Amino acid sequence: MVEKKSNILWHEATVQKEQRQKSNAHKSCVIWFTGLSGAGKSTLANALDLTLFDFGMKTYVLDGDNIRHGLNKDLCFSNEDRKENIRRIGEVAKLFVGAGTIVSTAFISPFQEDRNSVREILEVGEFIEVFVKCGLDECERRDVKGFYKKARSGTIPSFTGISSPYEEPERPELVIDTEQKTIEESVQKVLSYLRVNGIIH
Ligand code: ADX
Repeated sequence: MVEKKSNILWHEATVQKEQRQKSNAHKSCVIWFTGLSGAGKSTLANALDLTLFDFGMKTYVLDGDNIRHGLNKDLCFSNEDRKENIRRIGEVAKLFVGAGTIVSTAFISPFQEDRNSVREILEVGEFIEVFVKCGLDECERRDVKGFYKKARSGTIPSFTGISSPYEEPERPELVIDTEQKTIEESVQKVLSYLRVNGIIH
């Protein structure tokens, strides 16, 4: 095997994250939406993103369905692949934070350990775990993509909530119950968190 790691050095960027944040007049962070398929992660991430973008902020959305078309198209839904999926997204999200961006991510990210690993590669306060709470019954009733029906019939194996586990966040920064709150109320809840914690003004 070719030796790689020891021959690769870190090169400090000339323009630092803090300079980018100052220039943007807001801090950068990852708003990590986690929850069952159909809970409303993508909807919320995009609604929040639009609001922040309209404020003139530097923003971006990383979404499970889209990332699995490109960067992670080699991954499936085994526990191992889900872990690798989240690891890569964590690294990408970190790059966006370094670029001064408020990045909203929408991945089921079913395992606490994997979410913790992303938290660990970021600085304190940069990882905001948002549990998008919605009961399995309601997600199944919504069945936006028709995947729950297929999962029940066995056409889709290892489907989260049906035949693969989902670990609810132990200590999320925020919980948003999409069975109780409108999209607007949910976006306001995140905005308020960002203001109180000095990420935006
Ligand atoms: S994760 O578990 O690795 O975090 P991710 O968010 O990237 O999942 O992708 C989930 C999306 O892939 C779901 O919203 C659904 O559209 C689709 N999908 C296809 N197969 C599965 C499966 N077995 N389990 C969960 N989602 C699946």
